[in-house]
Amino acid sequence: MTQSYDVVDLIRTKRDGGTLSSAQISWLIGAYTEGTVADEQMSALAMAILLRGMSRAETAQWTTAMINSGERMDFSALTRSDGRRRLTADKHSTGGVGDKITLPLAPLVASFCVPVPQLSGRGLGHTGGTLDKLESIPGWRAALSNQEILHQLDTVGAVICAAGSGLAPADKKLYALRDVTGTVESIPLIASSIMSKKIAEGTDALVLDVKVGTGAFMRTDDDAAELARTMVALGTDAGVRTTALLTEMNTPLGLTSGNAVEVEESMEVLAGGGPADVVELTVELAREMLAGVGITDVDPVENLRNGKAMDTWRAMIAAQGGDPDAPLPKPQHEHTITAEDSGTLARLDAYGVGIAAWRLGAGRARKEDPVQAAAGVRLHAKPGDTVTAGQPLITLCTDDQSRLPRAQEALSGAVEVIDGAVVENAGLIKARVAAEDL
Ligand code: URA
Repeated sequence: MTQSYDVVDLIRTKRDGGTLSSAQISWLIGAYTEGTVADEQMSALAMAILLRGMSRAETAQWTTAMINSGERMDFSALTRSDGRRRLTADKHSTGGVGDKITLPLAPLVASFCVPVPQLSGRGLGHTGGTLDKLESIPGWRAALSNQEILHQLDTVGAVICAAGSGLAPADKKLYALRDVTGTVESIPLIASSIMSKKIAEGTDALVLDVKVGTGAFMRTDDDAAELARTMVALGTDAGVRTTALLTEMNTPLGLTSGNAVEVEESMEVLAGGGPADVVELTVELAREMLAGVGITDVDPVENLRNGKAMDTWRAMIAAQGGDPDAPLPKPQHEHTITAEDSGTLARLDAYGVGIAAWRLGAGRARKEDPVQAAAGVRLHAKPGDTVTAGQPLITLCTDDQSRLPRAQEALSGAVEVIDGAVVENAGLIKARVAAEDL
């Protein structure tokens, strides 16, 4: 019989900077999932963890306990014609503005015959959700059974779908609680939340895109690097080949932020075009995913140019009921903001743009809220570009005109035009973390 504990003792231990044992953590996560530990007790503990931290051993045990709260997926049935297992590769982003990379990346990697099981979420707050974006494609469906996922991985190679409710249910409950108690921004809690889902999903290789900047959870390079190292360690210890890229998120990725507008931009990338930053990150993450399953002698750029990635995208959308040729929804109202001065665009703040897209209807404030497929933001210039007073800078798109003023408000102070040239920054990809760096 497993021992039970007094949860108040565990809260006091963390409050006073102590360490919880493996047995205490397993009991706690199990008791919280089944409802024996109350939300207010878990809130107090989450706050104590946010303030005091957790050791590497505690974080690993916390992650294991959350994995054990639900089912584990198994892709070992995916085999090649010679009977050998096909290794799967996945990517997870910690969330940013205009971050549509999963859309071109999953079919691109699958076009090299690597199965990509991309179990994704919906948007909450100012960062968008992959499923919300794909749902702007007429007919496309996010919910697949485990059997459908396996079949699609075998036939098409790429699946982007909703994570089932059986995967790490402890995290679902805890994440919702953290969201309303100001306890999201804890590195051990974020790392264990993300990695419990990814390890339970059963991927062989995993690449983490850890965002850093105004539009991300992590605002400083040091915090982002610590989160990356914590997640790479958890993945490596669980037998998943895990690497992380630290990438810049002070300005939105690409020229769109929202739902249908991001699908449209992703299709431009799959057609061999698209904004340079979206292409660069898609290609670099593809290289990491392919290397994770032992493929280092191919250039991902090739399959963007020769149409193979686009063919896989079309097959992936069609397999989930979507029509890859259907026109995407257009907004009922548009409003364009123009440059007040001539000069160089020095700053276009990711957080402001993310909030604007959210307020236009692209995101939701509560889990159960609907989103508008056509809502979002189109950018007409990026930092470093020369702009002339009066030229279009940002177009706001929505089906509900009354949302425009609040979206415009979110952008006040988000744009800065200066006289001189902008100082070059360090680039989109700031660092890489692998198991050997730990
Ligand atoms: N994404 C997650 O899945 N969990 C977190 O805690 C933060 C971001």
